[in-house]
This record gives sequence, C-alpha cells and structure tokens, in this order.
Amino acid sequence: MEDTIHGSEPDWLEDTVFYEIYPQSFYDSNGDGIGDIQGIILKLDYIQSLGVKACWLDPCFESPFQDAGYDVSDYYKVAGRYGTNADLKRLFDEAGKRGIRILLDLVPGHTSVLHPWFIESCKPERNQYTDYYIWTDAHWKWEIPGFKLTSGYSQRDGCYVSNFFSFQPALNYGFANPDPDQAWQQSVDAPGPKQVRQELKNIMRYWLEMGASGFRVDIANSLVKADFGNRQTMQLWQEIRYWLDKDFPEARLVSEWSMPSHAIPAGFHMDFCLPFGMPGYTALFRKQYGPSPGTDRYGFNFFDPRGHGNIMEFLDEYLYHYRNTYGKGFISIPTGNHDINPRISKGRTTDELELVFLFLLTMPGVPFIYYGDEIGLRSFDLPSKEGGYERTGSRTPMQWSDAPNAGFSTANREQLYLPIDPSPDRPTVFKHESDPLSLLNRVRELVTIRKTFPALQASAHLDILYAQPGVYPLVYQRASAEEAYIIAINPSSQPVTARLPLQATAVPIRIYGPQDVFTMQDDRLVIHLPGISGGIYRLAK
Ligand code: GLC
Ligand code: CA
Repeated sequence: MEDTIHGSEPDWLEDTVFYEIYPQSFYDSNGDGIGDIQGIILKLDYIQSLGVKACWLDPCFESPFQDAGYDVSDYYKVAGRYGTNADLKRLFDEAGKRGIRILLDLVPGHTSVLHPWFIESCKPERNQYTDYYIWTDAHWKWEIPGFKLTSGYSQRDGCYVSNFFSFQPALNYGFANPDPDQAWQQSVDAPGPKQVRQELKNIMRYWLEMGASGFRVDIANSLVKADFGNRQTMQLWQEIRYWLDKDFPEARLVSEWSMPSHAIPAGFHMDFCLPFGMPGYTALFRKQYGPSPGTDRYGFNFFDPRGHGNIMEFLDEYLYHYRNTYGKGFISIPTGNHDINPRISKGRTTDELELVFLFLLTMPGVPFIYYGDEIGLRSFDLPSKEGGYERTGSRTPMQWSDAPNAGFSTANREQLYLPIDPSPDRPTVFKHESDPLSLLNRVRELVTIRKTFPALQASAHLDILYAQPGVYPLVYQRASAEEAYIIAINPSSQPVTARLPLQATAVPIRIYGPQDVFTMQDDRLVIHLPGISGGIYRLAK
C-alpha cells in the first residue's frame, strides 16, 4: 500500500511556481465591481508572463459568502457572481493552451448552513442526510470540551458541530475512537461517514473530468473528529490518493494542514507552511517589532533590515519536516495568502522584497505567489467583508493600470468588492511593466532562473551551509546529480561574512544588490556580503 501511494514521482510540480488568485479581486470583466472567471481568462497572458505554471483559485462555488465562499452551498455550481460552469471549463481550456494548470479550492470539512444536505439534516425526521453532519443527541448538550456546538438552530433535537465559524457545520467523517457512551459519535465506517466520503470523491471527479488539475484542500486535517495524531484522517486521505492515482494520475493535491510530516504521508503532494502549524513561518517574513509584545508576532523577522531576526526559528521546524518528507512530497512556502495580513510588501523596499523572492524561488518544494505580491500590492486595515475580519485588508483588488479603479473594474468606486489602494503612488502592473528594475520584472527573472536550473527546483537536495541563531547571512546549497548552486542571502543592512564548509570555487550566476566577494581562508570558502544583498553561484569543484 505504502509504495502504491508514494510510488509515482511528482513530475510537473518539479519546475512549477503557483499563483494564488482570489477571484473576487482579480479582474472584473463585466463592470459589476467584483472579479469573475472571464476576468481571469482575460488576464491569462499576464499570468503566463510571470512564468507561473499553475494557479490556485480560492472557492468559486455557490455560497451565501458568509466566509468569502468557504461556506459552499453547491459544490457542483460556479457562483453566479463569477460566471457559469461553462466559463470555468473555458478557463481550464484557455489556461491549458498556455501551459497553465488550474487547481480549485476543495472545502471538504464543512458546508454552508444553506447547503441542501444540511437543510435536510436539520429535519427531525430521519432522512438520507441525517448523518451527513455531526449532531449531538440532545439540543441541550451544548458544552462538550473540544467541540464548537450550536444549539437551537433547528427542530432536530441536537446541536451540530461546526468547524470554523458557526455557520460552517462539520460534515460527518466519523470519530477516530467513538465514545461508546455517546451514541452520536459515529465510527469512520458508519453509513453516514461512508456516504460523505463518497460525496467527496464525486465532487473531485466532477471537476477533474472537466479539466481541473487538482485541489487546494481547505483545513485538510479537520475531517475525522477526536483524531489525536491525525491517524484516521491520514488514512482517509491515503484512500483518496490511492483512488486519485488510478483515475487522475496527473492531478495534484496541496493541503492546508501545515504539518508536512502528517500531510505528505497522508497522500498530499504538497503541504503549506503556514503560521498555525509551523509558527516559524511568521519568524521568516512577518514578526513585527512594536505592536503587541508577548504574542507570536512580536519580535523581528529574518527579512528585516535591522538584522535582529532569527532564521533558526524557521529552519529548525522546516528542516524537521523537510527531512521527514524528503523524496515523498513537497513543502510549499507561500508569499502570503488570503488569510494573512499584512502582505509581504509591508515595510519593505523593492530591493528587500527581491531578497524575499530570491529565497522563495530557490528553496525546495513548490513556491506559491499570492496575487499582487509580485507588484508589491499593499495590505490595509479595512472593515470586515464576508467574514474576512482582519484578513480583509489583504484581499483588495489587483491593480492593473492608471485607468479608474486601477483598471480592476469599470464599476463606480462605491460598488467595488473592496476598495483600491488610494495612494497616488500605488503599484500597478502597468507601472511595473515599463520599469526594467521593477519588482515584477525581478520576480519574472527569478522564476526564469528557477525554471532554467533543475538544481533549484522542487526536489533537488537542500543543504544548509551557514545559519546561526540571530546572525546573518543565510547560505544554502541546492544540488541535483549534475550540478550544485549556492544561494547566499543577507537581508540585514550590515555587511556580513560567513565561512562555508566548502573547498570550492563559486561562480556567480546572478548577484542581487551590491557586489559580494569570495575569499579563501584555511582552505575554506568565505563569503563577504554587503548589506541587503544576495546571490546565486554555481559551484565549481
Ligand atoms: C481556511 C481558509 C479560510 C477559511 C477557513 C474556513 O483556513 O483558508 O479562508 O475561512 O478555512 O473554511
Ligand atoms: Ca464581475
């Protein structure tokens, strides 16, 4: 079984960079103030120009949008505001012509309260959907540690379990170890959980047959309840992966699990590095000195010119998962996503951002760029929209040109899904296109470099050559069977020196920032990096 699951090497992921599109905010093709699928189709040439080979679309299905579409009411239908199923199929086809694959967002753990399955499940009379959701057996049983319960919602005598917000009732995949005294806790192979599992495959099959190339899976670790150590949830995904490999061997799954040591053996091809499972991610780009001492976000991030960050906060955790999953699947580091505010651009110059992308695009695994991060789109503090709360400010429209609404939409300003950056110096694709030194063009060049050298791609081996707690720079090696590269990054504004465990010559492929210098010291290679600089070098033995 093990071998069948992991037997097939991921292939097209090897040199793929992903682009995450929040469909509400990408491009509005019909002037109603909200992005749509036809809008994405119209911007495919731009997406292709980035060099990315795949997109992940946040949920685009029927929904009351109490959580921006992560509350699905029909898994088989594109939401009217985005277009039709035929539009989505056209997107698959048009993207395919440009060598771009589309991953949809699969929300397997919960539905909207408006999903017809849930409406049926709410009824006191037993029916086909009674056991599609998790209900306690009495309406007053509303406080059970470890569960979010909602009581008094329906005439059914019970409380339902929700996964995230209260309007997101949890689908019933059963309990890992049902408590025999609690009859409402069903086992994973009870009829209800088995039907739900089948529904999940049906949904996946429907979109894969239409032309989707896989899924980003929302809170993938949430399915089986009271599943300490995630064993049963892992088994569930292994079963799905086994089926997927047979019927859709080209399809790829990326999980929102943030525990690669679980998600990869569970059958995911990739797992995201995200703050909730890998807090070291925050130490990389987003720890902010100032606002809230005592919280996870307090302190300095590594990519901060003051040079007080600690790369080991990220690396210790990352390397643990990297070693556990090496050769079996990938860790995906994103620039950010629709849940993370601030955006990566916050407080950084173009030169500083370039070093962030240098890191992102030379690390192993499959990198993800959140739409707009390639032009330094800014994030804001905005009132909540569609359950976004503090996340809302990193979901604003893409800025295309100098036209009204930055070319995002022809609607009146008040009608826009979210406001556009009001500042006159706001970044736009148009401005970045005409400047050879713009972030956009630097990102394009880095994507091209990654695509050119297999040793910089997903599975080539990573070795850390220099990383010390609270010290700069970071130097690592990426190597394939044929060649090896060194990547050195100094995000601090001070010049730094690192003695590398190498007796070799390094030939620069590309230098970022002021010129660096290599010397030899006791037969060892020493790199001297000026402030805010970095480089990629080929190792000549
Ligand atoms: C995931 C999504 C987030 C959503 C939540 C509930 O974390 O990324 O946007 O609110 O799941 O589905
Ligand atoms: Ca529209």
